[in-house]
Amino acid sequence: MVVSQPLHLVNPAPFPRTRLRRLRRQAWLRDLVAEHALRPADLIQPCFVLEGEGRREAIPSMPGVERLSVDLVVAMAERAARAGVPAMALFPVTPPERKSEDGCEAWNEDNLVCRAIRAIKRAVPEIGTIADVALDPYTTHGQDGLLRDGVILNDESLEVLCRQALCQAAAGCDVVAPSDMMDGRVAALREALDGAGHNQTVILSYAAKYASAFYGPFRDAVGSSASLGRADKKTYQMSPANAAEALRETALDISEAADMVMVKPGLPYLDIIHRVKAAFQLPTLAYQVSGEYAMIHAAGLQGWLDAEAAMEESLLAFKRAGADAILTYAAIETAEKLQRR
Ligand code: PBG
Repeated sequence: MVVSQPLHLVNPAPFPRTRLRRLRRQAWLRDLVAEHALRPADLIQPCFVLEGEGRREAIPSMPGVERLSVDLVVAMAERAARAGVPAMALFPVTPPERKSEDGCEAWNEDNLVCRAIRAIKRAVPEIGTIADVALDPYTTHGQDGLLRDGVILNDESLEVLCRQALCQAAAGCDVVAPSDMMDGRVAALREALDGAGHNQTVILSYAAKYASAFYGPFRDAVGSSASLGRADKKTYQMSPANAAEALRETALDISEAADMVMVKPGLPYLDIIHRVKAAFQLPTLAYQVSGEYAMIHAAGLQGWLDAEAAMEESLLAFKRAGADAILTYAAIETAEKLQRR
């Protein structure tokens, strides 16, 4: 009886049969099997708003980013719309004479952010507007909440943060984004907004916001570094040592009716983005913060790496980690690049 030999004995393969490189040989194949992709619709453009008209100011620690007066912010919104960027996050550069101990400019309905929201909504209504809820751009001490004898007052801060958010919502803001990290802020904001007839205003909570050294250039940009001095925000922003606590923070914000949650900073906290998305399946945003942007561009300017490629790789990494959208200072330029492909 002739027993046929198993094929692998007749023709033993000297080399691996499974070759993952097979699918990497050509660009079309790599594109075909790509698990994740970056789209303009995933990107949100933060923007620093300046007093005046026709004014722009460079920010030395953020090459390529400028502070813009409201009319130029509107021009940026038009560019964002053309590039397919869905929304802008607005941060004010409050003139020093408008800063105070309690940050009351935050609930002046004619403050820079409210004026920028109204101007954008009038000129480019299809662009979403996101406003930070926190006192730091408005206080002489640079802290996000009310301060008495060196202590942040949680519950008193909630009251004024609600007033701030109500002004933003009244100006037509689509999304309020509490970045202050006070306990109970999401519930307080939801109640205040609903009570004032703003039940469609979205709350994007900075659910897991860490006390990070990567915010340095942002504080230069809004002019709060000098006010803050050597103080820090460690009694309210989270310790970089903690991950389980980020899940508790997020769970709490969701129970208080947050519509979307955010993890911040971004790249050093990809593990947190992944865990938050996996645990809650809520729209989860990542913030590629100012220091991340600055690092990439500083190395690029030195000729030490290709800043554009490093930026795109970082943004794609957020998507891979589970982020649904990303706040990045490179949003519009990246979206324009994606459109050209
Ligand atoms: C204000 C706020 C900060 C950032 C966003 N909102 C700074 C801070 O908490 O000190 C940082 C954003 C960035 O670094 O790009 N609460």
